[in-house]
Amino acid sequence: MNKTLFIKTYGCQMNVYDSARMADVLAPLGYRPVDSPQGADMVILNTCHIREKAAEKVFSELGRLKRFQREKASSGGRMLIGVAGCVGQAEGSEILRRAPQVDLVLGPQTYHRLPELVARVLRSGSRAGLLDTEFPVESKFDHLPEEAAPRGPAAFLSVQEGCDKFCTFCVVPYTRGAEFSRPVAEVVAEAERLVAAGTAEITLVGQNVNAYHGAAPDGASWGLGRLLCRLAQIDGLERLRYTTSHPRDMDDELIAAHGELDKLMPYLHLPLQSGADPVLNAMNRRHTADDYRRIVERLRAARPDLALSSDFIVGFPGETDRDFAETLRLVAEIGFAQAYCFKYSPRPGTPAAVSAGQVPEAVKADRLAALQSLLSAQQLAFNRGCEGRTMSVLLERTGRRSGQLVGRSPYMQAVHVAAPRRLLGRIAAVRMDRGLANSLAGTILGELPGTSSSGSCPADREAVA
Ligand code: 5AD
Ligand code: SF4
Repeated sequence: MNKTLFIKTYGCQMNVYDSARMADVLAPLGYRPVDSPQGADMVILNTCHIREKAAEKVFSELGRLKRFQREKASSGGRMLIGVAGCVGQAEGSEILRRAPQVDLVLGPQTYHRLPELVARVLRSGSRAGLLDTEFPVESKFDHLPEEAAPRGPAAFLSVQEGCDKFCTFCVVPYTRGAEFSRPVAEVVAEAERLVAAGTAEITLVGQNVNAYHGAAPDGASWGLGRLLCRLAQIDGLERLRYTTSHPRDMDDELIAAHGELDKLMPYLHLPLQSGADPVLNAMNRRHTADDYRRIVERLRAARPDLALSSDFIVGFPGETDRDFAETLRLVAEIGFAQAYCFKYSPRPGTPAAVSAGQVPEAVKADRLAALQSLLSAQQLAFNRGCEGRTMSVLLERTGRRSGQLVGRSPYMQAVHVAAPRRLLGRIAAVRMDRGLANSLAGTILGELPGTSSSGSCPADREAVA
């Protein structure tokens, strides 16, 4: 059995993790991942529903796949096409109606059942697509096999899923369901396996990752700060990150972890969405602009060099020129090393989609350009400010030019260096020569030795005392 599988991933880091897990689930059936859909035995689109554009891309990709599916059939084979992820969850039957070339549709909670679904599709003579978008009571994590292949130098590990926050613009609580945290022991075991297979950096992922509250072996429920501390004790694990966080869930233990754990990288993605209280309120974000300021102050007190990243939505219903000016003011005040901004996109079924005061497209476009230009200037200034400094860089992949490797600085910046391939997967000391808009160019000074495991966690020390 040697079948090929092409998975195309859209959207967030959760989807990147899920795609790797789908490949694990299909490996025992003889499916091997490949880099192109052409000629593949199975193609899965792991989709994102967060903004309208993201969902539309799926339908155009399905159109393009039809040709490959026909070619495969004319050479006597069969290409199965699956749609997974949040578009599958939200628009399952619509997909099967609009795209009859699709064989199976599944949501983010049911991909552990892929083998069963594939078998049913292959058994049934009919070409009607199958749909599995339930929220099963059993957790998919209990049914996933161990990783079939090493994940590389930097890997994602899902610790939490779903969201109970119900921001009024967001589909996640509907597509991913209620919040759920994986038990500590399960997370630790997966992290240890990743490290044993060569991973040096783990990013804990979850839609609302800092709402993590996993059952621990001691019978307590651990927050993310405590979990990070436990993971920092794994020998051979050099770097930890987590994403995406909600300001409301930045608790004392997590903020303290930024000051206490050397392995926790000094970079945090903390979505702000807007700097105006009336908009934050209408978004149901449950914090004010001032709350965000105070959280950042406390984080910077714990870790003065912390680089911040964020998400912003412009043109949310009811956003006035004055509200938008407040956002620009807060961004200028806080200073972000990197950020994403989006035009508000009404999502069916969410409260804001039917709110009064929808903002005209042209106004959204102007605000997007203004905010983006401020954020780009901040990013460039941050990157230029790194010139001349020496930083540790985890070399993750080969670059476009020959003899070039690309890695990440502690602050998540992409760093390009001339380096021999043997340094791939290693951490090197790099002198930063040039800060550019989206990356840095540096010179390798030498390979860095691994750090030893961080001792005990403060909470453990208290328990002993
Ligand atoms: N319109 C625009 N942006 C959105 N986001 C989420 N939902 C929407 C929407 N309906 C953005 C938020 C979030 C990021 C992942 O996507 O900024 O933090
Ligand atoms: Fe969506 Fe808000 Fe939950 Fe983030 S916190 S996933 S924006 S509902």
